[in-house]
Amino acid sequence: MKERAMFATKMGVIAVTAGSAVGLGNIWKFPYETGVHGGGAFLLIYVACVLLVGVPVMLAEFIIGRSTHKNARSAMQILAPKRKGFTALSYMGISASIMILSFYSVVAGWIVEYLFQSLIGSMSGHTVAEYSDMFIAFTSSPWRSLLWTFLFLLMNYLILRKGIQKGIERISNFMMPILFILLIIFCINSLLLPNAMEGVKFLFNPDFSKVTPKMVVGAMGQAFFSLSLGLTGLLTYASYFSDKTPLVKSATIIAILDTFVAIMAGIIIFPAVFSFGLEPAAGPKLVFEILPNIFQQMPGGYFWSAAFFILLFFASITSTISMSEISITFFTEEYKMTRNKATAINTIIAIVFGSLCALSFNVLKDVKFLDLTIFDMFEYVSSNILLPLGGLGFALFVGWYIDKRIIHEQLTNFGERKITLLRPIIICIRYIAPVCIVLIFLYGLGYLDFIL
Ligand code: TRP
Repeated sequence: MKERAMFATKMGVIAVTAGSAVGLGNIWKFPYETGVHGGGAFLLIYVACVLLVGVPVMLAEFIIGRSTHKNARSAMQILAPKRKGFTALSYMGISASIMILSFYSVVAGWIVEYLFQSLIGSMSGHTVAEYSDMFIAFTSSPWRSLLWTFLFLLMNYLILRKGIQKGIERISNFMMPILFILLIIFCINSLLLPNAMEGVKFLFNPDFSKVTPKMVVGAMGQAFFSLSLGLTGLLTYASYFSDKTPLVKSATIIAILDTFVAIMAGIIIFPAVFSFGLEPAAGPKLVFEILPNIFQQMPGGYFWSAAFFILLFFASITSTISMSEISITFFTEEYKMTRNKATAINTIIAIVFGSLCALSFNVLKDVKFLDLTIFDMFEYVSSNILLPLGGLGFALFVGWYIDKRIIHEQLTNFGERKITLLRPIIICIRYIAPVCIVLIFLYGLGYLDFIL
């Protein structure tokens, strides 16, 4: 058997895992979900979900991956050979990863188009209304949406096929800190806009009358999506961790970093929303309407918008690489397919579903299930249902079905690290995370209306 590669350094682990976690989920999805669900209360519930559900599920994925150094299905077979049912989680993970890749590529396609428009200089000099029309004109054109989605998937394919993801990750390792600095500059800029405090209040002042079952389900789904949890992505990464990687510390750092980036995106977007007199509940188009207005009022707008979209492009492609790796690793290790074939299959499926998602903003916009377009449906079902279900599976699997000794060994690196909160962490994996997920699902289904 071929030796599996390992991450060499602790920094490498954090950089690559954070590269997967930080993406459009933080900068596009978080602000729009917060806007749709009315602000502060959503943020608070989101943070609670990250702590009580996200971190424990991340640790569960880490434990499964690192203790076996195998892909999801083999790993679970090794850890609990009699519990075959759990291997279904890996199939669910693969389906969800392809669903996410499909709609994610459409949004990443918008980023590439906006980058292109920024570079040719047609991003500046418009009014607020014109920027809103620009997004509508762009998404309502079937060929433009398709073109940019294909282009993005093609780049994703070429990177994966040529096996140069390591190179991309290296580039993104220095792009990420730059993105971070840029976000700080944009935060300051937004806070200085007229009427900015209105937006800050919207983001940080929780209004509990806005709490609804839909919002709570959305906050949990957002936590899973943003942390790349529930579909074996981090499990696969952890199978490449060395025995020295501190799991608890890494999970904590990644969760804090990821949440910090999301909150920064909120601080950039909401003051601007109120300053320009736009609607916070605009949905998926929110960020695309607001950002051009922000660049426009900054001195040197051309530079800022081009820089921002390039960095966002890198943040997106490191995330789609990680999503694609889930099915590619699975196809190559389980079905003994060549890497090229596995990569081609992954891309072809994403092109088919990605096209449907892109077209659901124009020719297919009236095709709806339960009032959701195809795009919305892919997004809703994957983030709010499949990822939490996967997470529930991993937490139960680690908490209840594998040898307790393995949990201790993994969390403490075979006794080398002293973990102060070891017991509470195990309680979170065994009880708190699964109970929260189930309760939120039930609440979402309306079953708990009579109690709450
Ligand atoms: N977390 C990424 C983001 O916020 C998206 C992502 C990458 C993801 N890999 C994943 C989501 C695996 C779920 C599962 O943009």
